[in-house]
Amino acid sequence: MAPPFMCSLLFPLFLAVLSIASGYTPISDDTLKSLPVANDDFNIETGSLLSPLLITRVPGTGGQVEAQNHIASFFQENLPEWSVSWHNTTDTTPLTEDEEIPFQNIIVRRDPPWAAEGDVGRLTLVAHYDSKVEPEGFIGAIDSAAPCAMLMHVARSLEEGLKHMWAEMEENGEAGDPFTEVKGVQILFLDGEEAWETWTRTDSLYGARSLAEYWDTTPHAAMSAYRNPLNSISLFVLLDLLGTANPRIPSYFQNTHWAYKKYASMESRLRNLHLLTSKPASGTFLPDKDKKASDFSRGFVEDDHVPFMRRGVPVLHLIPTPFPSVWHTLEDDGEHLDIDTVKDWAQITLGFAAEWMDLEGHMPTTKGRRADRVQVERGADEPKTKTEL
Ligand SMILES: *[C@@H]1O[C@H](CO)[C@@H](O)[C@H](O)[C@H]1NC(C)=O
Ligand SMILES: [Zn+2]
Repeated sequence: MAPPFMCSLLFPLFLAVLSIASGYTPISDDTLKSLPVANDDFNIETGSLLSPLLITRVPGTGGQVEAQNHIASFFQENLPEWSVSWHNTTDTTPLTEDEEIPFQNIIVRRDPPWAAEGDVGRLTLVAHYDSKVEPEGFIGAIDSAAPCAMLMHVARSLEEGLKHMWAEMEENGEAGDPFTEVKGVQILFLDGEEAWETWTRTDSLYGARSLAEYWDTTPHAAMSAYRNPLNSISLFVLLDLLGTANPRIPSYFQNTHWAYKKYASMESRLRNLHLLTSKPASGTFLPDKDKKASDFSRGFVEDDHVPFMRRGVPVLHLIPTPFPSVWHTLEDDGEHLDIDTVKDWAQITLGFAAEWMDLEGHMPTTKGRRADRVQVERGADEPKTKTEL
């Protein structure tokens, strides 16, 4: 806490910085109705996105390599504008003693083509692609093959809108305008989330711990808008244990409750437009939108967000409480997924991301035109452009 006189001195300066924040345009019903749907791609036997991931994916085994090849080649072949980079590390585990096990995070990124790396604030969508060593043969369909497939669908479905928007900005001379917020999107496919024996600080989150530390200690060029790649994360959205019917996702964190509400309102808009196919018993996946500030506790679920959150990154954790009954059992396989729920999570996340990236008017619509844009101001509780002072 700074002493009060510091606050009053700094306040006008902060106001000046914050006022460069841009507005955004809500996604229209027409655009929502035109969002691509990944029907066959989530088929558990033949689906191009999901089925290749329904294998064991233990770090250091052939399954890890197969999963990596699937993810990396999907981007290289279908989304060449998205950069694919790796963060590779090794570590020992209590189960494998002295053996160095490879943990390899895959980072895919789409930034405005003109933007310098340190000047882009990125919506960061996250899932882990490794699977648990035990029980032998464990697939981890909700944990987290299905979330990885959802994020691949989201990336693919955003591309045309991003390309159109950035081309238009370049034509209009908005590219590089210092008063326009520079927004990108990245997906982290993290490795080594699972414990090898029992969950402890050191036996879990191998990939996430290593990446968070690396990004924290890798500064951007001087004068960049963001100090380092951690600081460039505008919101860290972690999808985990998603894909069984009737998930109940609490709002875990008061500081990102505004983002939870946006997710919940995207879900209810899509449901009202009959664009979701699951029928959750409670009517919703996200029942906490009216949660009061006084009802937030310090309790949360340990997961890949922890090393990032400890370093100040804002986190939206999409994980059900209670956990699905198949959790960490051999039943967590393709057959136990509820594919309607898998598809619906993909659509909700896509709608949320399209709105975040301000793609209204740029997404292809079935009417063959792009909707008109109407600017609204951001709500007071939403984050503004972050600029280092
Ligand atoms: C990281 O590991 C992957 C998979 O083995 C490999 O393809 C890639 O080249 C490695 N990247 C770096 C930067 O070491
Ligand atoms: Zn797990």
